[in-house]
Amino acid sequence: MDCFEVTGGTALSGRVRVTGAKNSALKLMAAALLASGRTTLDEVPDILDVAIMSEVLRRLGCGVTYERYGTGGGGGRVVVDVPEEPSTETDYDLVRKMRASISVLGPLVARCGSARVALPGGDAIGSRGLDMHISGLERLGATIDSEHGFLVATAPKLTGTSLWLDFPSVGATENLVMAAVLADGTTVVDNAAREPEIVDLCSMLSAMGARIEGAGTSTITVEGVEELRPVTYTTVPDRIVAGTWAIGAVMTRGDVVIERAVPDHLTVALAKLTDAGAHVEPVDGGLRVAMDDRPRCVDIVTLPYPGFPTDLQPMAVALAAVSTGTALITENVFEGRFMFVNELVRLGASVRIDGHHAVVRGRERLSSAPVLATDIRAGAGLILAGLVSDGVTEVQDVHHVDRGYPDLVAQLSGLGARVERVQRPD
Ligand code: UD1
Repeated sequence: MDCFEVTGGTALSGRVRVTGAKNSALKLMAAALLASGRTTLDEVPDILDVAIMSEVLRRLGCGVTYERYGTGGGGGRVVVDVPEEPSTETDYDLVRKMRASISVLGPLVARCGSARVALPGGDAIGSRGLDMHISGLERLGATIDSEHGFLVATAPKLTGTSLWLDFPSVGATENLVMAAVLADGTTVVDNAAREPEIVDLCSMLSAMGARIEGAGTSTITVEGVEELRPVTYTTVPDRIVAGTWAIGAVMTRGDVVIERAVPDHLTVALAKLTDAGAHVEPVDGGLRVAMDDRPRCVDIVTLPYPGFPTDLQPMAVALAAVSTGTALITENVFEGRFMFVNELVRLGASVRIDGHHAVVRGRERLSSAPVLATDIRAGAGLILAGLVSDGVTEVQDVHHVDRGYPDLVAQLSGLGARVERVQRPD
């Protein structure tokens, strides 16, 4: 079992470079399936989820290579060679490891007319979690069944139509747009997600020859085309990693320049940090965040973009845990997302959960303890908490963190933090 030993007490200071967004790169890799030939993607983070998506694509018959840049920063170039006739089956062991594997569904149905993709663990057809992906594809003309734990979709030809999402789901918007680009006629997706990663996917698809309007707004219009061509494309910078560094700078009362961060992708989060007393300024090619006093508690409500990102909620709870006053943090996107709070409480944080609200009473300092990273972002929140705890905090199960943060130990060390990766017997 890999752990991080985090020694508290050092302010983060210096420069850190952010590579491309995990949540975009994985979908850009899936989108490569829409055109035969060689797609090249730059600024792809060197993380476990990219390795898993590479394997998903290999099993579909693609050649995939990853070449890390020599310049550091955790990024690299992915080359995907897509055959004329990809295989259409993605098996359970990969989908179980990474739910985002479901994003091959739209491209496969659109390009090959069928797909057989394992259901993520525990999901039954039509259940919460995939219902919008499924009903949208059905409205586009696909027939979808659940068979022996697989989602089986067939559609000799998809036909454009009007779609309306009950919730602006990121994954459903992406799957439906990727399906619609090769459909006959025009598809309109209403109440679409507006995340920068959606805009990134749509601009890659447009470069491939797709006809898309309205990306970044709630109504995306796609006019189907006959075929797409492979491209070379650069992934949008990771706003969640950038936001993690920004919150880390404030929590530790440090001073960090986050290279390649796009302030416009973090408007609400940065406004909250300013309210907490931080100095936030855009600088050439990035963002500087500094703090010289104890932060103030601010209330936070997570919402689909452009609201405060749910993926930064664990870091926001950790920040409030060492700020002055009391914060009310409301989670509106994922119901189970406060699970990690039990771990934060082990570090001495004062947090009370009531449904989808957390009341956090700030403490002067936290005290180290062994804690468990329950998912990627919870792990990042606990590591930040370890930086402001007395003593050495052991964060266990860091393979979750490896799924989303390239080179985390090196990047933290580069900012002056004392963090080591150690192995413990299981
Ligand atoms: C993506 C991100 C994740 C981020 C989330 C919200 C990736 C790989 N992951 O996840 O990091 O936290 O967006 O910004 O990009 N839902 C349904 N039915 C559906 C689809 C979703 O009920 O058909 C629900 C989900 O259970 C969840 C909410 O909608 O409660 C949001 O999910 P969604 O926006 O789809 O998130 P993901 O695409 O899974």
